[in-house]
Amino acid sequence: MPALRTEPRRVLITGSNGLLGQKVVELLSQSRSYSLQLVSSQEDSVFGPDTAPYAMIDISDRKQVSRVVENFQPDTIVNTAAITNVDACETNRERAWKVNVLGVENLVHAGKLAGSHIVQLSTDYVFDGKAGPYSEEDRPNPLSYYGRTKLASENLLRTSDISHTIVRTMVLYGSARKVKPNFALWLVGELKENRPVRIVSDQIGSPTLVDDLAFGVAKVVELKKAGVYHVSGPDIVSRLAFAKELAKIFRYDAELITPQLTAELRQPAPRPLKSGFIILKAQVELNLAMSGIEAGLLILRNQLSTTRHPVEISRQ
Ligand SMILES: NC(=O)c1ccc[n+]([C@@H]2O[C@H](COP(=O)([O-])OP(=O)(O)OC[C@H]3O[C@@H](n4cnc5c(N)ncnc54)[C@H](OP(=O)(O)O)[C@@H]3O)[C@@H](O)[C@H]2O)c1
Repeated sequence: MPALRTEPRRVLITGSNGLLGQKVVELLSQSRSYSLQLVSSQEDSVFGPDTAPYAMIDISDRKQVSRVVENFQPDTIVNTAAITNVDACETNRERAWKVNVLGVENLVHAGKLAGSHIVQLSTDYVFDGKAGPYSEEDRPNPLSYYGRTKLASENLLRTSDISHTIVRTMVLYGSARKVKPNFALWLVGELKENRPVRIVSDQIGSPTLVDDLAFGVAKVVELKKAGVYHVSGPDIVSRLAFAKELAKIFRYDAELITPQLTAELRQPAPRPLKSGFIILKAQVELNLAMSGIEAGLLILRNQLSTTRHPVEISRQ
């Protein structure tokens, strides 16, 4: 009997120029099972037209979202677009709400008409950091406005009758084209130049290699698993311990790193201090093998020595 030919599934990826968005595009575009449409806020895609068609849109604009979704009729929408700068969300609340909440509402509205499943990225900042590590069943209580917008977007999905998955993650690190420097990339830039750095010792979390998270998102898309998943690295460490491990793996001088407390930074947005995720559900149901910090930082070191991304990033 001839093999049945199935149509590729249509996946719309928002924030495709961002750190996670790029990795999801790289993974899904390798498979013939998917046909992709990319959207992000920049004029041009970081990918060429051979990878996938691209449109510049602002997800907070309902008309722009409706137009793209109506034309493409996605089977699945992966929403990685967000205002991710936690302090900027605290000081520009109107913009944060527009993008992180109304943007999701726009995707839900258009996605319902197209019959789409939505995969929404969320964060450990929905928790207060008093009693981590957290499981999917723990009660959210965000401290910051960013956390409130992300929880509001989760609740929006829960109360709409659209099929959806919420993937919560934290402390992303990794390398991609023209992205804002994440903690690990910033630290590599500083230590490489022998600049002393002060790193907080009282923020505990689970650093997550972005490549592993993208793999998890691809699994969710493939299996169309609904519900909430915590997807992060398995180690629960302080930011200081993560920084020291980075210095060791990259063979930089660990003496350049000295501890400080979060309160000393006087940042506009409060941070959850005792965080971290229990990732058993994702490990079992999605069959994910997440890298610990040693393995993840070795992968990052290898990536940075074989790509030109670090040069672009260290100039920012
Ligand atoms: N990074 C972390 O440590 C972390 C931790 C927990 C959860 N998350 C969540 O994971 C997701 C991905 O994070 P990420 O680190 O990959 O973020 P990112 O690098 O900032 O990527 C987000 C992308 O979305 C774009 N974007 C922003 N506003 C938009 C809008 N109104 N319309 C269309 N595109 C827009 C951004 O463009 P601009 O660069 O121009 O803004 C950027 O290209 C987010 O939902 C975030 O909340 C991230």
